[in-house]
Amino acid sequence: MAQAFPHFHKLQYATLSKQINLKDFDCGDSDLNDFIKNDALGYQLKYLANTTCIFFDNKPIGFYSLAADALNLESSGKDSVGKNLRTYPAIKLARMALDKTHQGAGLGTLITEIIKGFAVDLNQKGIAIRFITVDAYLQKVGFYAKCGFIANHAPKKSHTVSMRYDIFR
Ligand SMILES: CC(C)(COP(=O)(O)OP(=O)(O)OC[C@H]1O[C@@H](n2cnc3c(N)ncnc32)[C@H](O)[C@@H]1OP(=O)(O)O)[C@@H](O)C(=O)NCCC(=O)NCCS
Repeated sequence: MAQAFPHFHKLQYATLSKQINLKDFDCGDSDLNDFIKNDALGYQLKYLANTTCIFFDNKPIGFYSLAADALNLESSGKDSVGKNLRTYPAIKLARMALDKTHQGAGLGTLITEIIKGFAVDLNQKGIAIRFITVDAYLQKVGFYAKCGFIANHAPKKSHTVSMRYDIFR
């Protein structure tokens, strides 16, 4: 079990807006830095992915972007659900990154737990959600595996691995 982020009660959350100053944010990955600084707001304005920023001491230290998803499963995955559907309802964790200063302290795990909670919440509100999905960078597959995600198919030639978390497990 990952360590619990020690300052979780001091975190604040806000929907991404142009008022949030992300100039100093650096997660160590240039694509994700570029996404949050230049692209995320555009996705949000077009209702394609909504981004939540996480603050500590009034500084943005991380973000996650979510969208609705429809998951294709191979037959073994369908068998474990017990219903044969073309696609299965899901929330996609489209992007997630933490500033380098706050990595490795349990915050990534906390965010995945928060998103699992959203799925439970939506089910209680009458919208079925069975899975959380993510396209994990190859070098982050171990992190998502620790958070309970499994790969959706055998490795393919790609820099990401499609993974799912089953909220009914
Ligand atoms: C990936 C990221 C979100 C993980 O969040 P984090 O807060 O650093 O991770 P946690 O501290 O919650 O780690 C939880 C567990 O996963 C492990 N872990 C973290 N990164 C890992 C990796 N790349 N491979 C294997 N295990 C990893 C941790 O060691 C920890 O293990 P433990 O339970 O045995 O202590 C964060 O490091 C980050 O923002 N990285 C840069 C951006 C990025 O790559 N985003 C993901 C794109 S798919």
